[in-house]
Amino acid sequence: MSDPTGGEPASGKPGLSLVMTNIGELVTNDPELGVLTDAAVVVEGDRIAWAGPMRDAPAADERLDAGGAAVIPGFVDSHAHLVFAGDRAAVFAARMNGEPYTGGGIRTTVAATRAADDDTLRAGARRLVDEARRQGTTTIEIKSGYGLTVEDEARSLRLARELSDETTFLGAHVVPAEYADDPDGYVRLLCGPMLAAAAPHAKWIDVFCDRGAFDADQTREILTAGAAAGLTPRLHANQLVPGPGVRLAVELGAASADHCTHLGDADVDALAGSGTVATLLPGAEFSTRSPYPDARRLLDAGVTVALATDCNPGSSYTSSMPFCLALAVREMRMTPAEALWAATAGGARALRRDDIGVLRPGARADLAVLDAPSYLHLAYRPGVPLISTVLHNGVPQ
Ligand code: NIG
Ligand code: FE
Repeated sequence: MSDPTGGEPASGKPGLSLVMTNIGELVTNDPELGVLTDAAVVVEGDRIAWAGPMRDAPAADERLDAGGAAVIPGFVDSHAHLVFAGDRAAVFAARMNGEPYTGGGIRTTVAATRAADDDTLRAGARRLVDEARRQGTTTIEIKSGYGLTVEDEARSLRLARELSDETTFLGAHVVPAEYADDPDGYVRLLCGPMLAAAAPHAKWIDVFCDRGAFDADQTREILTAGAAAGLTPRLHANQLVPGPGVRLAVELGAASADHCTHLGDADVDALAGSGTVATLLPGAEFSTRSPYPDARRLLDAGVTVALATDCNPGSSYTSSMPFCLALAVREMRMTPAEALWAATAGGARALRRDDIGVLRPGARADLAVLDAPSYLHLAYRPGVPLISTVLHNGVPQ
């Protein structure tokens, strides 16, 4: 989504400014949710130049009437696995019939991904990015993790980089089948040649620290090697069972601990005193029919919470931030305001960005116009396509 779109700016002419007027409700996230009624936004090139009450709007070259609609910052989806081949619909069906989710199906997708050519992988990821964008997402993080060889991880990240600057090396997704008897050998490969091949295409490093994946010692070793190679840690933590992931994320200064489904008091306390965001992925609990994370406990403890889709073919095959936001409100008792903040500014925090997830002068002109008078409709009208227009870097999508 940070790809050069090559599109025309919203004003239609490079260098010209655009004022969007008659915004019934504008969410700026500045400060907090920053809700204004009867508002306007001015876009200059790829940036927000001004946001405020319509009566104070400065003149601009072009004018666009929002017709009383609500406008929000574009969603920041800080956790997605988009480079893969195949699907696991039959496994999903079996799960809905009582089979548990273990993460074991990852290897099925690894086999399909290794067998696919670049164009197939590129087209699949592009389709999901476009699908997400139509649902208001203007930034999306993309992980590798279905290649698990030096070449296939580097390839996944190279393809991901064509679509986003927010790319994450997840060679530590699971130990691949050919290393089942030698997990230490896989960690050596990962921390050596695989990391070296992946690092030029990645900004972040991630580990699935959980039952059946990687333990605390392996996770520490991998994230430390990643940090030495210039990648900042983020972590899949405490998704399937309680464990050391969240505390390790905090100890290692990770930008985010993701999932946070099974937390103890020590985990919540560690997050609360840290710069690590708790990224909740309710699409995964929905699609694996698992208990949701306790968002209220985290919020009440003062933890910074983000919401993301976890879009992947196994545990959460949705690209829809509005759907995840509705789940967060209905199933995790987040208020609509908390959920919208978490899906925009929270995601930006999880990616350590201050130029997205917010509509203030200097920020990227990434916004979504809703086919609704208020952002409340995102949770109030679940499953309804409410995104009418998306601007990304000032360009209509
Ligand atoms: O975030 N937990 C690990 N990775 C994904 C699942 C990937 C898969 O099942 O293919 C997740 O849920
Ligand atoms: Fe994930």
